Parts: sequence; C-alpha cells; structure tokens
Amino acid sequence: MGLPEHSVRQSAAVARRVLVAGAGGVLGRHVVRQLIARGERVLALVRRSRSAAAVQALGAECRVLDALAPEALRGIGDGVDAIVSCLGAPVTPSPFVGRRPYTRVDAPANISLADEAVRAGVSNFTYVALAGGRACRTLNYADAHERVVDHLEKLPIAACIVRPTGFFGAMAELVSMARWGVLPIFGDGAALTNPVHEADVAAVIVQSLDRAESSMIEVGGPDTFSRKAIGKLAFEAIGRRARFVHVPPKLARCGAMMLAAINPRAGHFVRFATHVMTTPCIAPCVGSQRLADYFHEYARKG
Ligand SMILES: NC(=O)c1ccc[n+]([C@@H]2O[C@H](COP(=O)([O-])OP(=O)(O)OC[C@H]3O[C@@H](n4cnc5c(N)ncnc54)[C@H](OP(=O)(O)O)[C@@H]3O)[C@@H](O)[C@H]2O)c1
Repeated sequence: MGLPEHSVRQSAAVARRVLVAGAGGVLGRHVVRQLIARGERVLALVRRSRSAAAVQALGAECRVLDALAPEALRGIGDGVDAIVSCLGAPVTPSPFVGRRPYTRVDAPANISLADEAVRAGVSNFTYVALAGGRACRTLNYADAHERVVDHLEKLPIAACIVRPTGFFGAMAELVSMARWGVLPIFGDGAALTNPVHEADVAAVIVQSLDRAESSMIEVGGPDTFSRKAIGKLAFEAIGRRARFVHVPPKLARCGAMMLAAINPRAGHFVRFATHVMTTPCIAPCVGSQRLADYFHEYARKG
C-alpha cells in the first residue's frame, strides 16, 4: 500500500542535509529548531564557539568558522542538499560588536558561500535579505544584501530570496528603552510597517526548501502599525504613559555621519534606522504571531 502524499514528502525531507549559516543568530536558531523538528539533518555554521553549544543542544551538527577567513568555506558544501543563510553582521547601533561595514561582511561572506554551493552541486540556496531593500541601495546595510541577491541571480542554482520586514526581536529593545520614560522617534513616527516574528520567518524559510525554482518571498506580520504606535505598545507593555521626543531626520543623519567616523558600521546602522523609521515598509502578511503579545512577554521577563 502506498504512503499518503504528506508522508512521502516528510520521508523525502528526512533524507536532506541542510547547512544553516548564521545558525547562532536570532533567526538562525529558529531555522535550526524548525528544521530539526521536521526531521532534517542540520549542519550549523557559527562564528563564535559559545554559540556552538546552543545549536548542538538543538540537535544540529556544528562547525565553528569565520566565513570571511580565506578558504574557510572550501568543501563545506560537500554532501549538503540545501543551504539557508541567515549570516550577517549584527543589526545593532552598538559600536562594540565590530566596525566593518555591512558591505564588507554580509556581501563577501554570503557570495563565497553561494559560490561554494554551486561548486558542491547544492540544489538550492535560501538567502535572507530585507523587505524594501532594492529601493534603498544607497544605504550600506541594504546594498550589502542586494549585492548577494545580484550574485545569486547570476548563478546556476535555485535561489529563494526571503525579504522580511523588521523582526520582533529588533523592536523589543524599545521596551527596554521605554523604561527610561521617553522614546526617541525619528521624524513624525507616521510611517507604517508590519513587523514579523522570527519564528514566522523561519517557517517560510523551511517551506522554501521544497521549491525547485528561484523565487522571492516578502514576509510581514499580521498587524500594521505606525512607528509611533509601536512605541506606544512598548509603553503599554510596561504599564507606563507614552512619551516621545521627536528627532528631525536631518539631525539623525548628521548623528549617523559623526558616528560613522568613529565606527563605520554603527553609523550605517543609524542611517538605515533613520530610513526605516521615516519610510513605509509593508510586506504581505505571512506570520501569525502578534507584536503586542511579544512585548508583554518581553516586559514580563524583565
Ligand atoms: N533584525 C531584523 O529586523 C532583520 C530584518 C530583515 C532582515 N534581517 C537580516 O536577516 C539576517 C539574520 O538576522 P538576525 O537578526 O538573525 O542576525 P544575527 O542575530 O546578528 O545573526 C547573524 C549571524 O551571522 C553570523 N556571522 C556574522 N559574521 C559572520 C562571519 N564572518 N562568519 C560566520 N558567521 C558570521 C553571526 O555570528 P556571531 O553571532 O557569532 O557573530 C550571527 O550568528 C541578517 O542578514 C539580517 O540583516 C534582519
């Protein structure tokens, strides 16, 4: 008796070996967890050895390497069926997590990984870029991702480009900042967006591995807010009255230029943050998790 179609797909999936780059990051861990739950074999690439224990605990085989080191990726694609890359320089204004611009981390590391995928005959490559990235290539953060997309488009491999809006995790910092009593808003705070939970993005990524053709998927969450409304949610989560200080975008861009002189990547991040806070960014709703629940849970954990 034949297996039902669903079971056949599951059995085929079990046979796959999936390499996840950036596996120690916020999104990467969700991807690893969901792949393992689906029965896939996962080879996780992490940069820092302290991330290795966490992904091994999820059941993944792990390699610690710096993708920017010469020859670091040679041979890594052998025996791999599909690659997911969530690899990128940290998306934070902190000047203490590296200085190299995004174009000198995200682009070269992911381009080398894509070339290795082709060399090793890997059948598909899923890359996480960003919603609206094509339209703001003058920004270093967006251009770094778009360089990878351009490269993948030229390669003989089924490439899936996943373009999420902002992750809940990236917004959660607002809850911590709201505890200071006042939140900065670049511009009037009216630009709309629909942030998405990392786990919802990971679910889209895991499904993308079943695609044989190249594709592009924009991923947003279920609720669309203005940037000011997101700030208000952060205050609500801690039970405080919302208070904002409006920073003129010109001033924020000046601040970004000054910061870039000390730390180029931190400066590029602030330029990008100014752009996203003043420009609408809405993607088709794919996710189901709610930002208000996430903020309340984040606030409860302290
Ligand atoms: N955050 C957002 O709202 C958002 C929205 C849309 C798209 N994205 C994009 O989605 C991707 C994943 O985001 P995320 O928030 O999960 O980022 P993340 O937490 O910073 O994870 C990125 C991972 O890449 C790894 N990595 C960086 N440089 C490396 C190198 N040279 N060699 C090997 N590994 C390296 C990091 O390892 P270490 O931890 O060891 O440094 C980290 O684990 C990024 O490309 C990001 O730009 C993010």
